[in-house]
Amino acid sequence: MTALTQSTVLTQSKEWQALKAHYDQIGQQHMRDQFNDEPVEKEADDDKTGRVEYFSVREGGLFLDYSKNRITRQTMTLLFDLARYAKVESWRDRMFGGDKINVTEDRAVLHTALRSKETEPLRVDSRDVRPEISRVRTRIREFANAIRSGTWRGANDDRITDVVNIGIGGSDLGPRLVTEALSQGVSAGALSGERQEPTPAGDGPHQDLRWHFVSNADSADISSTLAKLSWDRTLFVICSKTFTTQETMLNANTAKAWFLEQGGSQADVALHFAAATTNKEAAGEFGIDPDNMFEFWDWVGGRYSLWSAVGLTIAIALGTDKFDRLLDGAAAMDDHFQRAPLEQNMPVIMAMLGIWYNNFFNIHSHAIIPYSHKLTRFPAFLQQCDMESNGKSVDRDGNQVSYATGPVIWGGTGIDCQHSFFQRLHQGTGFIPADFIAMLAPDAPDTLTKRHHAVLLANFIAQTEALMTGRDEAGARRELANAGLSGSALEALLPHKIFPGNRPTNTLLVDRLDPETLGALLALYEHKIFVQGIIWNLNSFDQWGVELGKELARSVLPDLSGSAPQTRRDGSSRALINQIRDALR
Ligand code: F6P
Repeated sequence: MTALTQSTVLTQSKEWQALKAHYDQIGQQHMRDQFNDEPVEKEADDDKTGRVEYFSVREGGLFLDYSKNRITRQTMTLLFDLARYAKVESWRDRMFGGDKINVTEDRAVLHTALRSKETEPLRVDSRDVRPEISRVRTRIREFANAIRSGTWRGANDDRITDVVNIGIGGSDLGPRLVTEALSQGVSAGALSGERQEPTPAGDGPHQDLRWHFVSNADSADISSTLAKLSWDRTLFVICSKTFTTQETMLNANTAKAWFLEQGGSQADVALHFAAATTNKEAAGEFGIDPDNMFEFWDWVGGRYSLWSAVGLTIAIALGTDKFDRLLDGAAAMDDHFQRAPLEQNMPVIMAMLGIWYNNFFNIHSHAIIPYSHKLTRFPAFLQQCDMESNGKSVDRDGNQVSYATGPVIWGGTGIDCQHSFFQRLHQGTGFIPADFIAMLAPDAPDTLTKRHHAVLLANFIAQTEALMTGRDEAGARRELANAGLSGSALEALLPHKIFPGNRPTNTLLVDRLDPETLGALLALYEHKIFVQGIIWNLNSFDQWGVELGKELARSVLPDLSGSAPQTRRDGSSRALINQIRDALR
């Protein structure tokens, strides 16, 4: 008899089976009917709670309305039963408590400690991590303030005017997203060229400071950035947990060579290069002055690292006060995640809705659609956070899973994507659940901003409504008749005008985009991903899947300049290498 693995136990559990049976019962119900069955408004003469009131939760400046999902109250009860069966609460407490839940790397998972205000010792390998966290935070504050105030001087006694963050993955996406989201200028131009509006000292984008992010090994990325810089007014922040990542080291070395060519000396490197890393030795070998090394620890995963020294560029660009407030917002969400009962727990609710679609409807795709220009990079950030965490098919104990795990996370910015992929969302085969995210308050109180915001939010609401209600045949017929069509012309167009609807969305209304709400939003998704990983019995904190490609890249590189036949490679790769070798000659 084959032993039951955790993964077969999960699907055979009575909680999973109950959800399966429930899916058979209600899976095809239309949300329109579910809304009709459950009145939206509270009725004065009984204690029935309306669907929206029941299926919504508010926390940390975020309001989640999840009523436009294919659920009943019973669905949520069964989903919470599954969460309890999987011991979500006890795993959560183990994570916050510093247990080494990242088993394949034998590491604790403590990015939450980076934003915590707790003072009780938190031990990893019997060492309290809190004093170290606060020591590095103080150093970040001092360094960022020195750059911002101009007391930090470059090789020619000038102040620093340009900060270049060199990193990739978690060492790029988080700081880039936050800096872009919370800076006043939003465009790529503002991020990499234009002057910012003057703001009060210490907080907000700095008027004399520009910042840039370089991640790609494609030389176009670094060359176009270097072309805008003066070597003696630039600070390079090399962000790399390992300080071995090929792309980052390539860019860092290119930046250093450029710096030396432009007139900087080896000794000047200490004034113009800083590092955020766990590998101080490698940073030292690169030439970074130990005073400019900002440390973090192996218990901070790369994709969870923006709260650590990886946030150095955020602190320099936006000010340490804003960085602190970002951390406070995340801490508030941590607190909610730890304390709220599962039924009112925003990350748990979002996670379990994802499980419902992924494992019972068998929909393995999830769209993230911020209606906010400043959050344009949010889908890309979440792609790493979610798919690098839960894109796995072997469970925590090394068994092949027998169920679907992390879905494809993708998305784009509203309104723009209404004019690209929304056709697929509305009328494509099957459905794709989506999170719609928008700010309640406009960015500024002026008339123009408000006018634009109204149009933005009108579309935001219209889309989730259309996805939910759709338009049935009668409605389509009416519309065509109103447009003056009849007979065969009407009949020919009719099928194209029908919208099936019943396409689920979460609506996240954020009070306003500020450091606290952004911190809360990011922590919300981190915890959602964590909960899903627990349900699927995954280790969400390793990323072995990216290693093979890295190893092969290291072995392909010499082949591109060598001349020996590449017999060990497959025919396709060999032929491609030959073409590239010719092009590189
Ligand atoms: O792509 C894999 C990965 O290891 C990510 O997890 C990480 O964020 C990124 O590479 C960059 O790694 P590092 O910060 O060590 O340069």
